[in-house]
Amino acid sequence: MPVILGIESSCDETSASVCVDGVILSNIIANQTIHEAYGGVVPELASRVHQQNIVPAVQQALLVAKVSKNDVDAVAFTRGPGLLGSLLVGVSFAKAFALAKNIPLIDINHMQAHVLAHFIGDNKPQFPFLCLTVSGGHTQIVLVKDYFDMEVIGQTLDDAAGEAMDKTSKILGLPYPGGPLIDKYARLGDPDKYQFPEPQIPGFDFSFSGLKTAILYFIRDNVALNPDFVQQNLNDICASVEKRIATILLNKLSKAAKEYGIKDIALAGGVSANTGLRLGLQALCEKNNWRSFIPKLEYCTDNAAMIAIAGYYKYLNGEFTNQDVAPLARMPL
Ligand code: KG4
Ligand code: ZN
Repeated sequence: MPVILGIESSCDETSASVCVDGVILSNIIANQTIHEAYGGVVPELASRVHQQNIVPAVQQALLVAKVSKNDVDAVAFTRGPGLLGSLLVGVSFAKAFALAKNIPLIDINHMQAHVLAHFIGDNKPQFPFLCLTVSGGHTQIVLVKDYFDMEVIGQTLDDAAGEAMDKTSKILGLPYPGGPLIDKYARLGDPDKYQFPEPQIPGFDFSFSGLKTAILYFIRDNVALNPDFVQQNLNDICASVEKRIATILLNKLSKAAKEYGIKDIALAGGVSANTGLRLGLQALCEKNNWRSFIPKLEYCTDNAAMIAIAGYYKYLNGEFTNQDVAPLARMPL
């Protein structure tokens, strides 16, 4: 019955989770609101807030799980990819905890953990499956052959899907992070009101920079004619943008599933919280007789439960790391 403490601090969420024998008993997430005023994450501020939140988050995770710190068998932490200063806080905490308790350390790749969030709970996909991992920094179609054997078969050539959401919301004058707000307004709008271009990129790769420019010019030209254009049409603009981003993602995913002959299709990362994308994937899978796997909302955006479950599988394999481990801003799958 291994007890794993999971730590996540790669961006602007400080999170701690306790996993006992593969079951998540707590998942405490401290969100940082300080960045709203800046329209994006300020790395230096993020690491300072992690520093403040990390100990209370871990204490709370242990309390909720009703687990004493003496019962923890191993500490799993996000090694990368992410903001270096933010990662340093989680990595240093994990090292100190492991040293104090004389227990092993387990380093986790944040992008693998997003995929492995599908192994929380009973409804698990079967290997090999495809996972569309869409976050603020990444857009990947991953062929998942085993827990830690993953191959990126398509990725963005420029902006990530979450970045496209956040930059669009910035153009619309909405606060950061814009993805959840685009989702909220899109529910009230007409997704077919405005047509935005779908980039023609060969293979399974993506591009979102052309879409961003198209949205920028579209807003600029319409505001020149009517200064209240955005306020008057916000719901329809958000619905149309969301639909285009979702179709760009799902068309490639569908193409990959057909080419690789895979029938278990999963969604992961912060943008998988998006309602239009979730509904779109469900419809695509129903049409093709595929099984869709969509994580609970709390396991879509950054969280330590996915780190703890990934840590559990590494613990079973006996894969540990040393006290001299360093965080990595970039870390391939
Ligand atoms: O995975 P994540 O929490 O952090 C990174 O590792 O980047 O993803 C954050 C991204 C942000 O771009 C945010 O706007 C987007 O996920 N996001 C959403 C929604 N919730 C979060 N985008 C669209 N609709 C949502 N409901
Ligand atoms: Zn993430």
